[in-house]
Amino acid sequence: MTCRRGALIVLEGVDKAGKTTQCNKLVQALQDSGRQTEMMKFPERTTKIGQLINSYLENKSNLEDHTVHLLFSANRWELVPLMKEKLEQGINLVVDRYAFSGVAFTSAKPQGFSLEWCMNPDMGLPKPDLVMFLQLSPSEAAQRGQFGTERYETTVFQKAVQQKFELLMKDPSVKWQVRIQHSNH
Ligand code: TMP
Repeated sequence: MTCRRGALIVLEGVDKAGKTTQCNKLVQALQDSGRQTEMMKFPERTTKIGQLINSYLENKSNLEDHTVHLLFSANRWELVPLMKEKLEQGINLVVDRYAFSGVAFTSAKPQGFSLEWCMNPDMGLPKPDLVMFLQLSPSEAAQRGQFGTERYETTVFQKAVQQKFELLMKDPSVKWQVRIQHSNH
């Protein structure tokens, strides 16, 4: 008996948009409807590459900007065999961030990385069936603006990231769905 390939559903958005909460809800809803579903997240901080990224995000180490971009991409690639295996088994994957975050965050840096350079290392990754973008209104963003201590968690930078996501959402080859976020996610 052949089983249908699982769906690859990605959730994207700026920091604090509520992606993790929505991923959990989506996984639960799909499981409740009898569909085998698992959650993944990027960066996956438990691998060796993920640990380097984690230390960078927590400001415990510094990495050159091109280098860290490539590490984020490598962190996705190292999980591709597992992703493919699960999808082929018919398991749906709900993924908290993917290559779109990679491109939006690096290209938002003041050094002026081109979108093309940022996209290249992720070319050939499994293509999502759907990318849900959680849009946080500016007033909500201000209320949730109590950012932690991780790198990138500043209002100015997050605004630049949002603009890059808006550029990426113009790509018609990707199935984007925008969801406006309100209070309590
Ligand atoms: P998170 O684990 O809370 O989602 O945070 C991960 C941070 O890393 C977040 O600020 C977005 C950033 N990031 C990148 O810069 N490049 C990437 O490829 C990914 C997946 C995340």
